[in-house]
Amino acid sequence: MYSRIFLIGFMGSGKSTHGSILARKIGYDFVDMDQLIEETAGMTIPGIFSEHGEQVFRKWEHDILLELCNRERVVVSTGGGAPCHNDMIRIMNDHGATIYIQLPPEVLKDRLLTSKTDRPLIKGKSESELLEYITSLLSERENYYQQARFMVNGVNLRAEELADLLRDPASH
Ligand code: S3P
Repeated sequence: MYSRIFLIGFMGSGKSTHGSILARKIGYDFVDMDQLIEETAGMTIPGIFSEHGEQVFRKWEHDILLELCNRERVVVSTGGGAPCHNDMIRIMNDHGATIYIQLPPEVLKDRLLTSKTDRPLIKGKSESELLEYITSLLSERENYYQQARFMVNGVNLRAEELADLLRDPASH
């Protein structure tokens, strides 16, 4: 069994929800990377973006990831952009199991429209702008996400499916 499990995927794909259930199921700690960045920085993600910019956020995200790579028995839900910057997909693959939760743009759009999380990259977009943005960003990011060790369909995903996949990787 892997010591570190990284859930990756677009904003709204359910990484934190599935990650915390999975962690409980397999007896691992759960860490939400965005939350840890906020606690460490003493600022919210939107605050970091507006005061320091995305570049600085990506640097802090990278630093936090390296710190997490020293922990044992942990499920990590990563920010949607993490695997696509600063070699982070390789770092995750070198230190544990990466699982890509894949969802189509329309489903992501519907989820993001009703989500309460404040996400600077999509703030203020209309429904049609949001769909266009997701479609374009997802196609750029897909190349990184596809480097995950495992891939699962995020529609009707159950945490049990993730636990099975980790227990019996050969079946996937
Ligand atoms: C981002 C996704 C967010 C957060 C930040 C940037 C991205 O995390 O890290 O707003 O670049 O896709 P979630 O995927 O948890 O929304």
